[in-house]
Amino acid sequence: MKPNPALGPSRRRRSSNTSRLTAAALLLISLLQPGLLRQAQAGDIEVLHWWTSGGEARAALALKASMQAKGHSWKDFAVAGSGGDSAITVLRSRVVSGNAPAAAQIKGPSLQAWAREGVLTSINEVARAERWDELLPQVVSDQMKYRGDYIAVPVNVHRVNWLWVNPAVFARTGAKVPNSWDEFFAAAETLKKAGVIALAHGGQSWQDLTLLETVAIGVGGADFYRKAFVLREAAELSGPTMEKVLTTYKRIKPYTDRNAPGRDWNLATAMVIKGEAAMQLMGDWAKGEFLAAGSLPGKGFICTPAPGTAKSFIYVVDSFAMFKLKNPANSAAQRDLASAVMSPEFQEAFNLSKGSIPVRLGLKMDRFDDCAKASALDFNAAAKSASLLPSIANGMAAPSAIEWALKDAVSQYWNSDKMSAAEAMKRMVEATRAK
Ligand code: BGC
Repeated sequence: MKPNPALGPSRRRRSSNTSRLTAAALLLISLLQPGLLRQAQAGDIEVLHWWTSGGEARAALALKASMQAKGHSWKDFAVAGSGGDSAITVLRSRVVSGNAPAAAQIKGPSLQAWAREGVLTSINEVARAERWDELLPQVVSDQMKYRGDYIAVPVNVHRVNWLWVNPAVFARTGAKVPNSWDEFFAAAETLKKAGVIALAHGGQSWQDLTLLETVAIGVGGADFYRKAFVLREAAELSGPTMEKVLTTYKRIKPYTDRNAPGRDWNLATAMVIKGEAAMQLMGDWAKGEFLAAGSLPGKGFICTPAPGTAKSFIYVVDSFAMFKLKNPANSAAQRDLASAVMSPEFQEAFNLSKGSIPVRLGLKMDRFDDCAKASALDFNAAAKSASLLPSIANGMAAPSAIEWALKDAVSQYWNSDKMSAAEAMKRMVEATRAK
């Protein structure tokens, strides 16, 4: 240690003794409480998300806890509603005003769009050190990168094409859990005659399109889905298979209730949990709601692939895009966030609550339930047989302008008593030209 020339000889000695003592004390403290010294570099970590329902909030807590354990202070930036549509609107205004959060729940092609705007930062340093390329399915790692740099970290894999069933309601009414669309309508009729709401639906445009994509893959198959929604071929979007999809879709409506318009998805799940409705067609974030309500798989609820979709897998990968930050402590916290999200501990804890499965390959599934185990097996099988497909309704398959335009077109068809399937197809083709 350099002597301080501003001090006299005795003060200098006292000063260096004091420094030695302070250093020893700090060492002792750091040995006893490693978290305390790290606090010096602690940053604020603000994360925008829309995980506000019971199951989602439990999952988000796992993230908060892992960041706090690293000594950072967590600033929750949750914006409820509409499958994230409101959250993205709020995010845009924050970014435009130069006040971006550290990370935001952004997924699919939107990651590239945000990166092109120059507002995202590279997290290659963490990704390389932890060898993410080897830990992720390539379909996922490709999407997390912009021009070869990781700009986002993936959290999970959700499956969209699930049917959630209240078995007590089925037993009481004598309805049979359906595997095909014919069986679905037979069960729905039995349930309706028994005075039960067959299908809990939330009439919001993203849920209307979620329902349509599920019918599309069930009726038309994986190849049709890819051509219609991933490649967006006009001939498929307005061909005979799509017409069959749209008429099947519309046949479902009489089995939903009058109060469906505007309803949040988790309130629809609550109807199935309480036995007010028999089924819901929804992604496995719905499972998070059953679990949060204390309902157990195979007992309180049953999960089964949506009719006709046993071999297909419509996926959603939630991810956090990383924004450029000015404060170095906050950037360090952001790197800690990226690392924590990919850790086996977090992947397990988060996904056990969220209803999804870990996106990190090779993790043990022992603590997961049968729905998640089936999802993991089907994910791998679908990846091999080209029936792994991105959700168009949940931000995975199209630029957001097209996705929003499709949601509008499909909701108009769902809600109209007069619109023909032909008119709906015309509007869907127009929607794919949205910019
Ligand atoms: C997201 C899920 C979320 C769900 C409902 C989906 O688009 O991927 O993480 O739970 O919307 O908000």
